[in-house]
Amino acid sequence: MAQIQWFPGHMAKAIRQFEENISLVDIVFEVIDARIPYSSQNPEIKRISSAKPHLYILTKKDLADPNMTNKWLEFFNQTDNPAIAVDAKTKFGINNVLKTIMPILKPKLDHEKQKGMKKRPIRAISIGVPNVGKSTVLNRLVNRRAAQVGNRPGVTKGQQWLKSGEKFELLDTPGILWPKFQSQEVANKLALTGAIKNTAYHADDIALYALKMIRGLNTNQFAKRYRLTEDDFNLSDVDLLMKITKNVGMRDDFERGSQRIIQDFRSAKIGRFTLDIPGLERNND
Ligand code: G4P
Repeated sequence: MAQIQWFPGHMAKAIRQFEENISLVDIVFEVIDARIPYSSQNPEIKRISSAKPHLYILTKKDLADPNMTNKWLEFFNQTDNPAIAVDAKTKFGINNVLKTIMPILKPKLDHEKQKGMKKRPIRAISIGVPNVGKSTVLNRLVNRRAAQVGNRPGVTKGQQWLKSGEKFELLDTPGILWPKFQSQEVANKLALTGAIKNTAYHADDIALYALKMIRGLNTNQFAKRYRLTEDDFNLSDVDLLMKITKNVGMRDDFERGSQRIIQDFRSAKIGRFTLDIPGLERNND
């Protein structure tokens, strides 16, 4: 399997920009993918923003295994990192963002009030790896037309605060942080879910990885979609890929067959899967 390579230069720039913005906000929203809540995190974010409260927003809840999402939420909430799961496409769960952060930030706002400071909205910034759903979450949280508070000192030229009601403002440009990984396992998960550009990997490598991870789970939906028999489940991953390619009418075009499997995974047509397991993942990186 070819190694997925990554470019630290991008990372350095993204981190610099995030560091510049962090002093302007009360809370950081780290947007992560509910299918890979560990692999889509970047530990640098917590390091840089350690002085600020942190909320994990797990997007694509509608594509992840619901039982695993509950386990992940329990896991985060036990480790003192509040987390919520949303389907940002339909807005499901978005109301919980404000409900969750208000109690966290109340002591700070009360303290400011006691000191006679003017009442002000809470300010937040969101950050996460590419394609995780940052812009979709932002659009769900704010009313863009009513937005635009004007530039404030320290905010990069062209950046705006977007309003969500009277109580809350979000910086309009979410931080993009390139994923950080030491292991190819994490890289494969990021590629399969769409956080890594398709020019950085071979589709057949990622399709084979997907088959290895999911062929034993939710076999009904998977078998039905690809018209597989019970015997087909005894095939090796490579032979299974060939069989699926044939069954979906692509003859021996394994490149297209691989792309089909990746697309079907991403749209949950072969089932809703979560690839990271809470508590286990730290040891694998
Ligand atoms: P980014 O800013 O982090 O780069 O991500 P963005 O919001 O652009 O979202 C990337 C893709 O993920 C979009 O799909 C978006 O619709 C989808 N998405 C975001 N959140 C969710 C979610 O909670 N559930 C589901 N199912 N999808 C989500 P796209 O294919 O690029 O566009 P389209 O499908 O909206 O046309």
